[in-house]
Amino acid sequence: MAEAAKSGILGVGKYLPERILTNSDLERMVETSDEWITTRTGIKERRIAGENETTSDLATKAARNAIEDAGLQVSDIDMIIVATITSDNLFPSTSCMVQSKLGAGTIPAFDVSAACSGFVYGLAVADQFVKGGLCKHPLVIAAEKMSTIVNWEDRGTCVLFGDGAGAVVLGPVEEGGILGVHLGADGVNGQLLKMKSVGSYDSGLARQAAREPDTIFMEGNALFKHAVKLMADAAVAVIEPLGLKGEDISLIVPHQANIRILNMVAKRLGVNPDEKLFLNIEKYGNMSAASSAVAFAEAVEEGRIKKGDVVLLDAFGGGLTWGAMAIQW
Ligand code: UT7
Repeated sequence: MAEAAKSGILGVGKYLPERILTNSDLERMVETSDEWITTRTGIKERRIAGENETTSDLATKAARNAIEDAGLQVSDIDMIIVATITSDNLFPSTSCMVQSKLGAGTIPAFDVSAACSGFVYGLAVADQFVKGGLCKHPLVIAAEKMSTIVNWEDRGTCVLFGDGAGAVVLGPVEEGGILGVHLGADGVNGQLLKMKSVGSYDSGLARQAAREPDTIFMEGNALFKHAVKLMADAAVAVIEPLGLKGEDISLIVPHQANIRILNMVAKRLGVNPDEKLFLNIEKYGNMSAASSAVAFAEAVEEGRIKKGDVVLLDAFGGGLTWGAMAIQW
């Protein structure tokens, strides 16, 4: 049997809605302050999608950018995976809607539901398809319209989230590429972060049914502790078998939930957060699955990732779920 191909990232893309909601805007909506939000989370502003702009719209724009960045055409893509918890509808899946919007023929398309870890989960699935020779150029998109599932009267959550999308195209590579992955889940503690119903159209449906839409419920304190431990453990679970230590990682591109969590994870890994953490939480807040995807695209765009570098994706979120992936550029 032929040796399985290695897979790597051929192109990256992102899309952020134009509308910016600042901490001062939020000060006028709920009892909060720029000072509280900045010092407790690191967030200064976030993007909010237009009322008629759905998750699949954000995803499609990010996807087009990634395909172009890879130097490919839509016709080269042979699978679409969308990581999201804010699907346009319960079904069809957001990935099927993206397939249609891209004009990507009848290639397989499915969604991955792993909340903030969804991008790493989606990449791990796509990696297997490439390695197994079943796919050549899968497209992995992480897209969220969190603004539709947030309770805008709950200061404990509404200040945290934002909308956006990031995407990558994978393909077979001769050297480097995806070196290792670690995924995990803990359904027992899943009640710490949840929402009963989903969908960026859900609030509309709920209104039609004359009931209040469901919104995100989060036990922030408890999650904080899980996040620090599980993100650090996931990182170690990926790099140790590769014979690597924290210092061998050129850049950590984490899920961006809270700057304090990320500094603590860096400390546990024995790396200098100022040098090794890629942060964009200040501009976008927590975009669930899209956070690490957009961060990855920006790290590439900003030249923070050089040939030969080992980059670590590291995510944690609802489920609970977590995932880390080492990629050599
Ligand atoms: O995306 C992946 C999963 N999510 C996470 O990993 C998130 C993990 N958790 C966190 O990031 C933090 O727990 C939060 C940012 C959510 C909250 O920060 P905290 O430092 O844990 O604050 P807290 O919940 O302990 O609240 C402290 C105080 C409370 O007031 P009292 O009871 O001390 O008087 C809150 O009512 O801050 C108050 N508070 C606020 N004050 C101003 C909560 N939200 C706000 C707010 N503005 N927006």
